[in-house]
Amino acid sequence: MKPNTDPNQEMKQNAAFEAVKHVKNGDIVGLGSGSTAAYAIKAIGERVKKENLHIMGIPTSYQAFQLAVTYSIPITTLDEHPQINITIDGTDQVTPELKLIKGMGAALAREKIVAAASQLNVIIADEQKKVRLLGEKGQAVPVEVLPFATALAKQKIAMLGGTALVREGKGKLGPTITDNGNFILDCLFGEINEPETLEIKVKMIPGVVETGFFIGLTDIVYIGVKDGIEKIERLRK
Ligand code: A5P
Repeated sequence: MKPNTDPNQEMKQNAAFEAVKHVKNGDIVGLGSGSTAAYAIKAIGERVKKENLHIMGIPTSYQAFQLAVTYSIPITTLDEHPQINITIDGTDQVTPELKLIKGMGAALAREKIVAAASQLNVIIADEQKKVRLLGEKGQAVPVEVLPFATALAKQKIAMLGGTALVREGKGKLGPTITDNGNFILDCLFGEINEPETLEIKVKMIPGVVETGFFIGLTDIVYIGVKDGIEKIERLRK
């Protein structure tokens, strides 16, 4: 991993360690993406080595795939294991009702597919990710779109009251290209009172592959705070 200059790294790490305790021998484990999930992948790798844990990981991105290889976590696919025991992933925002915005790492489509296939979804975050309403603090909702549909999607998002910007790539000219070969629209809606309704409307736009709203998917959230870890849990119906 790169040398870490993130001031919240300890909070992220503490949340990751707590989450990784849920992984059991024999589990198929969804491996999330981003800087917080990276700590979880490393900690899973350490448990595999020390405890001779027999697990297999399903990465949600090339980043997660490369980390799994680095930490010697055996890898499998969703085709071979369409039912995942546990997924540990990060988030960009989380409300007390466990509603999330994800996708600032552009991995939202695979992350949501893996989350939907998981019996237990554990989200890890530092305290900066806590919000009352999604969209607070100028947070955009990332939306993955087919390149061909970009102009139409921008128009339709404007009709829903949002402003959509094509995310620019880093280390390349032009747009960010996702692991699926698509573009990301970062959509500003302001504070979002009913993300469930907005999610459906955005998802209905032709060419939209996935949205960064993760609602009704999360079971447990561990939030690293200054003096410990907060846990928020929901019971599945
Ligand atoms: C990746 O697309 C995202 O969903 C990440 O999980 C999210 O952006 C959190 O990333 P950090 O842990 O790096 O903040």
